[in-house]
Amino acid sequence: MSAPNKSFDPKSPASLNADAVTAMVDSALAAIALAATLDELKEARLAHASGRSPLSLANREIGSLPPAAKAEAGQRVGAARGTIKQALDDRAVELESERDSRVLLEETVDVTMPTQRRRMGSRHPLTTLMERMSDVFIAMGYEIAEGPEIEAEWLNFDSLNIAPDHPARTMQDTFYVGSADSGVVLRTQTSPIQMRAMMTRELPIYVVAPGRVFRTDELDATHTPVFHQIEGLAVDKGITMGHLKGTLDHLASAMFGTGIVTRLRPSYFPFTEPSAEIDLQCFVCRGESIGDPERPCRTCGSEGWIEWGGCGMVNPRVLRSAGIDPDIYSGFAFGMGVERTLMFRHGVTDMHDMVEGDVRFTEAFGLEV
Ligand code: DAH
Repeated sequence: MSAPNKSFDPKSPASLNADAVTAMVDSALAAIALAATLDELKEARLAHASGRSPLSLANREIGSLPPAAKAEAGQRVGAARGTIKQALDDRAVELESERDSRVLLEETVDVTMPTQRRRMGSRHPLTTLMERMSDVFIAMGYEIAEGPEIEAEWLNFDSLNIAPDHPARTMQDTFYVGSADSGVVLRTQTSPIQMRAMMTRELPIYVVAPGRVFRTDELDATHTPVFHQIEGLAVDKGITMGHLKGTLDHLASAMFGTGIVTRLRPSYFPFTEPSAEIDLQCFVCRGESIGDPERPCRTCGSEGWIEWGGCGMVNPRVLRSAGIDPDIYSGFAFGMGVERTLMFRHGVTDMHDMVEGDVRFTEAFGLEV
């Protein structure tokens, strides 16, 4: 038996010689380098690395070669395919990362860009706060009571035990409608709604009355001639100051969070007896600025407490003027400024912001409904 004739080479296809393979690799590498997009790269892959590529066609010829030539050609084609595959993969990585950064850039949203959108505005925070405060009471079974902004002087003052010579009744404080003896005023407080409620409702009475009130104050950082109060009134058998304190504490924690500390400070109002002022412990210094000149507090003036509203047990004279027998019924009442509540709750320091109607102020509170 004779050994295989290694030098025997019946046909050596031109496509398998070194130059031809190098040329195929070069043309593949050129096409890959030229591919500017992933689609173009796909085309290059089809043309140079698929079953229809010149290199694959040449590869098919290998089978017909004698063993020695087969190995050599196989190695050459294999190396060529490896080079092309590597180039394709490298280019794909490059093009993919180019595409990703382009997409990131194209899809960037400039949130600071001015828009053409028509402003819808939003509800004023005083309105929404009044509703929130009212809701706290509605949840406890209270009803909302209302009264007119143009009010009888008798209901605004006399019926509430505010005598005709009381300083609050002067032209300095009160807007009279018509002349000073017209008997008609712009209500200076929501307290006349207490009277209206007591005169028209069945006992027991549990009402809150949010509303706009008027006083002849100049507009400055802490005053405005038109502001808002929320009034509360409970008349029932056996109502005590304890009920008042508990109710106000509940409102305070609903408004300012459960950590808020309140105190009742003795005071005087003609329509309540005894009367008190409800103070909130300063939520900035928590009372720690009292007597500490090193750490003054601007929010409470180092007093440790901030005045929130007035309250007390309904004066028996007031009950009587509404036709209620004070020997059977007792009641508590309170009234606080809604602007003050908004100032404490949201750190608004200037009343101008609340009255000037700048939509940027309103919108800062969001689109509350
Ligand atoms: N009406 C009072 C004011 O405007 C506030 C007030 C104090 C209301 C005591 C009350 C009350 O109902 O009991 O200053």
